[in-house]
Amino acid sequence: MTDVRTGPIQSTFNSTPQTGMQQAPEHLFILFGATGDLARRKLYPALLRLWNEKRLPNKFALLGIARRPYHHDSFREQIRQAIEEFAPSAMPVAGDWQAFLERAYYCSADATKPEDFPAVASLVKKLEAEQGIPTHRLFYLAMAPELFAPVADQLQASGLTDLGDAPVENDRQAPWKRLIIEKPFGRDRTSAEILNQALRRVFAETEIFRIDHYLGKEMVQNIEVLRFANALFEPIWNHRNIASVQITSSETVGVEERAAYYDKAGALRDMVQNHVLQMVMMMAMEPPSRLKVEAIRDEKVKVLRSLRTLKEEEVYQHVVRGQYRGGSMWGQAVQSYRKEPGVQPQSSTETFVAARLFIDNFRWTGVPFYLRTGKRMATKATEIVVQFHNMPNHLYFNPEGQLQPNLLSIQVSPKEGISIRINAKQPGTDAVVVPVVMDFCQQTESPEAYERLLLDAMHGDATFFTRWDEVQLAWKFVDPIADAFTDHRLPLEPYAAGTWGPAVATQLPVAEGYQWWPLSTQTHEEGLLHEPI
Ligand code: BG6
Repeated sequence: MTDVRTGPIQSTFNSTPQTGMQQAPEHLFILFGATGDLARRKLYPALLRLWNEKRLPNKFALLGIARRPYHHDSFREQIRQAIEEFAPSAMPVAGDWQAFLERAYYCSADATKPEDFPAVASLVKKLEAEQGIPTHRLFYLAMAPELFAPVADQLQASGLTDLGDAPVENDRQAPWKRLIIEKPFGRDRTSAEILNQALRRVFAETEIFRIDHYLGKEMVQNIEVLRFANALFEPIWNHRNIASVQITSSETVGVEERAAYYDKAGALRDMVQNHVLQMVMMMAMEPPSRLKVEAIRDEKVKVLRSLRTLKEEEVYQHVVRGQYRGGSMWGQAVQSYRKEPGVQPQSSTETFVAARLFIDNFRWTGVPFYLRTGKRMATKATEIVVQFHNMPNHLYFNPEGQLQPNLLSIQVSPKEGISIRINAKQPGTDAVVVPVVMDFCQQTESPEAYERLLLDAMHGDATFFTRWDEVQLAWKFVDPIADAFTDHRLPLEPYAAGTWGPAVATQLPVAEGYQWWPLSTQTHEEGLLHEPI
């Protein structure tokens, strides 16, 4: 395909950011795992940004809990260092900075020791009393998932989940408790059910906020708006007009320091069961009957119910798994997965998955959804490409069927925006038709996913959190694939670090006459503009 690009038709979203982000209600943010990586990299920067934007109320305190023997002051210093390291741009002016840090308190406790919880409980009650914070408790478990259930039990045993029945002056004062947990939620359907039963002994489903940070990304949230607020898209959003959907979430990093977790999880459990399926749901769901949390989540669940479960023999046909070998990235040699620190030398854990999915309902019948995700790939990008059906061949300007299909690409990260590829006459020619791309870039700085999700949880808005039946059905889909991975029944394909994955994954869409479209970041860098790879 010759791409003649005489200059893209460009625009930007003219948005006023965060207008919907109201100030959070008064509450105590009780953070287990306060010295861990997640807290330092994501949670403190997110809380500080919310503070800077005046989205945290006056009556707010953060209680950090971890084993290290810090005091309030040394904990505050840890937060300051974390911000300096991971989010220097979030640093407020000196006075504000101090005021934020003064909201942080620390309690040294070992989450595996029941005897440590009474001290946590008495500090919670002391802070609430001293600061006039109503019984509004947001528990965040930024810790290993095997601790979720024991910690929930201890929260209950120490009385921390007991909201009391004292009369309140108004609804805003009505007590509440909520639990935020990270993935992984189990490692298969059975273990997820056991975990869920344990949590449900202490928290109601409406009090459990299961984070999937992809749902906090601006452009993932934007999929709904793009589809349902545009007469241009919604009427054609079906199998009659759409030929295929491709979802790529590629990373350039390797396993980093997370081998202990990742070597047991692999790309299927780490990315597909949650983030990638969430994007499938957002792309495929029906419009909700009401803009209410449960109505939206009901529609997402229906997508999972319609997702064709693959039998083992179908897994061989529709799924590719791979593992990176050594290669070259940014001009430097990088080592193979099996040589990464902490990885078993014979590990058969997949670092790459590609798959072809089908959603068996009226809207999507016959439309393949291709997905691929992996570590040590050529580019860091998350992008969704919708390919529309080809035009008839016999049009006078398309005598040999050389017209390229229309593409809509939704760029989730690092670039945020959408682009649409249409066909137009090349200026100055009689009937030479060339694809042109219209780019819409998000130019305002979007809030970080965690910032948005924390604020939602503070407000009790669970729209962009994963409901239990979503988790359960996602495992139902993933379990047979994971089973086919064991004992090498589905071969583990090697791929060189810095590439697009195993060659057989590149061929996956070819069976139906499609190909992976290059991502927009690639096209800009390489000037390819959506040529097939
Ligand atoms: C996490 C996975 O959930 O998502 C990581 O555990 C992965 O392995 C990360 O690197 C990717 O997130 P993002 O926002 O960088 O695409």
